[in-house]
Amino acid sequence: MASVGRLMRAIRVQEFGKPEVLKLFKDVPVPSPSKDQKGDRVFTRATITGSYAEYTLASEDTVYPLSEKLSFKQGAALSIPYFTAYRALFQKAHGKPGELVLVHGASGGTGIACCQIARAYGFRVFGTAGSPEGLNLVLQNGAHQVFNHKEHDYIEKIQEAAGGEGINIILEMLSNNNLSNDLKLLSVGGRVIVIGCRGPIEINPRDTMFKESSITGVYVFNSSKEEWKEIGAALVGGMEAGWLKPLIGPEYPLEKAPQAHEDLIQSSGATGKMVLVI
Ligand SMILES: NC(=O)c1ccc[n+]([C@@H]2O[C@H](COP(=O)([O-])OP(=O)(O)OC[C@H]3O[C@@H](n4cnc5c(N)ncnc54)[C@H](OP(=O)(O)O)[C@@H]3O)[C@@H](O)[C@H]2O)c1
Repeated sequence: MASVGRLMRAIRVQEFGKPEVLKLFKDVPVPSPSKDQKGDRVFTRATITGSYAEYTLASEDTVYPLSEKLSFKQGAALSIPYFTAYRALFQKAHGKPGELVLVHGASGGTGIACCQIARAYGFRVFGTAGSPEGLNLVLQNGAHQVFNHKEHDYIEKIQEAAGGEGINIILEMLSNNNLSNDLKLLSVGGRVIVIGCRGPIEINPRDTMFKESSITGVYVFNSSKEEWKEIGAALVGGMEAGWLKPLIGPEYPLEKAPQAHEDLIQSSGATGKMVLVI
């Protein structure tokens, strides 16, 4: 809950540029909630005054109750990864329980969310990671089987584990690396959902032809009002049921926000969602 006249620490961005433009200010007025901006225990998917701060304002339609079972850190790690994961699996891939899902890049914030959701809804789940710790965490968070995307023959191993039919849905975190292989792994009618991409890649469109497979992008901020509502309800249900448990990865103090941005791009061996702490 905020109060008028107090000051807080917050990151402000006043120019475009590299992570160094994320500047810490120590004299930002604490925002004060008015009607439709509540001071309750919530998690939010969008803020009005900025989320890299000790206090923030969010409007009523962008907040959801945060279960007492979860910490505020977990609340901070929840929204974009889980909203994206649900949107990718259901609103874009139109996934059905029983289908085989590959979470390609499962050890980070979004991948862990994909694994937890897919497992809770009755999918068969494969996940990939690039470190032994990441592989263990993916297994503990919903995957039935895991594969190391740093091994040269891991695609063949996935192919073998999937059997003749192939993978129904691939939730892809690094499509500029993997899209061409993904098309080969898919089943007839299979779908690749592009969640993450850091550059171009060459593919053979013929790989989609005989399988009538598809490639669809997802951008969580395109969700309609109804779609946000649907996802929010599913996530609150997941907290109540107990399967939705955001996994906290590296923690950075607020003033290290520029370093956090650098590391997010450069580092490997993800172990959940990076968070800023105050
Ligand atoms: N489209 C949207 O609306 C939307 C929403 C949220 C996030 N995203 C994007 O989705 C991507 C993932 O987000 P995140 O929050 O999970 O990031 P993250 O926490 O940084 O995780 C990155 C993931 O990519 C994995 N990875 C590394 N090399 C890989 C490879 N060769 N093949 C497959 N996976 C590989 C990492 O595994 P290891 O570290 O274990 O190697 C890790 O699991 C980011 O690019 C992000 O910007 C998009």
